[in-house]
Amino acid sequence: MSITKGDKTIMDFNSINYVVEENIAIITINRPKFLNALNTEVLKELSDAVDIIAADTAVRAVIVTGAGEKAFVAGADIAEMQNKDVLEAREFSSLGNKIFSKLENLTKPVIAAVNGFALGGGCELAMACDIRIAGNKVKFGQPEVGLGIMTGFGGSQRLARLVGAGRAKELLFTGEMINAERANEIGLVNRVVDSSEVLEEAKRMAQMIASKAPLGVSFTKKAVNEGLNLDLERALSLEVELFGALFSTKDQTVGMTAFLEKRQAVFSGE
Ligand code: HXC
Repeated sequence: MSITKGDKTIMDFNSINYVVEENIAIITINRPKFLNALNTEVLKELSDAVDIIAADTAVRAVIVTGAGEKAFVAGADIAEMQNKDVLEAREFSSLGNKIFSKLENLTKPVIAAVNGFALGGGCELAMACDIRIAGNKVKFGQPEVGLGIMTGFGGSQRLARLVGAGRAKELLFTGEMINAERANEIGLVNRVVDSSEVLEEAKRMAQMIASKAPLGVSFTKKAVNEGLNLDLERALSLEVELFGALFSTKDQTVGMTAFLEKRQAVFSGE
């Protein structure tokens, strides 16, 4: 069910909040008593929210955040995982992986607004987003080896791609938490702001992106994501294809005409 209040649309979920403000969708993981730990219900609701966003042409950017000031997400729910057998553990890992990949491949840009703990599955969720904005009191880490397990929502792969294999292995093998300054230094986050400013900063960035041509942004995301998995020659060909395709859009005409007429372009996403 959805309710519209002023310029906000609010969808009814149990463990996440979903709000669309103007053309920015905000997903808030909402289990603050458990530091927003990811259980099956959260994952399924996150999956549904991503599907809704994919189908909603009015949404131009997405923010993922956690409820409360203490945590973004302190990992997958350890109480739920504790008694899983091998098959169930594989299923849980596979479910999370599919949903995080769906989020990563969403055609709209996704910003993680991270405050407090971003551990295990929480760090993995932040890494499945395109951009990470961190509060100055954030703690990132992959503590799984201290629980007798390893990353299962893509951490071993995305962390190595983001910060390099050596730094990733240090974090993955030691389980050590790092602060905002270190996360910034190794490129795990895009920028650090005061804790009280994280969501506002994410909204500012989302609005800036939302004012640009949606297909230009979306094709750029595709070029970066798909290009990283191709050799350079193929990746450059992909860019050529996507660049050319944008010249069939209305927004290319709108953008270039507005520039030449010295006025601000208003893009429709067509
Ligand atoms: C379930 C959790 C949780 C988690 C915190 N809680 N993290 N419950 N799963 N990941 C619960 C606590 O049990 C506690 O519940 C409440 O949240 C508050 O947490 P405290 O531990 O009391 O807070 P504090 O002492 O401030 O310590 C904060 C913390 C610690 C350092 C973040 O909670 C912690 O280490 N959490 C676990 C972090 C972790 O190991 N994450 C990785 C999980 S494995 P009660 O009922 O006691 O109040 C993972 C794998 C992903 O993510 C891949 C899966 C396939």
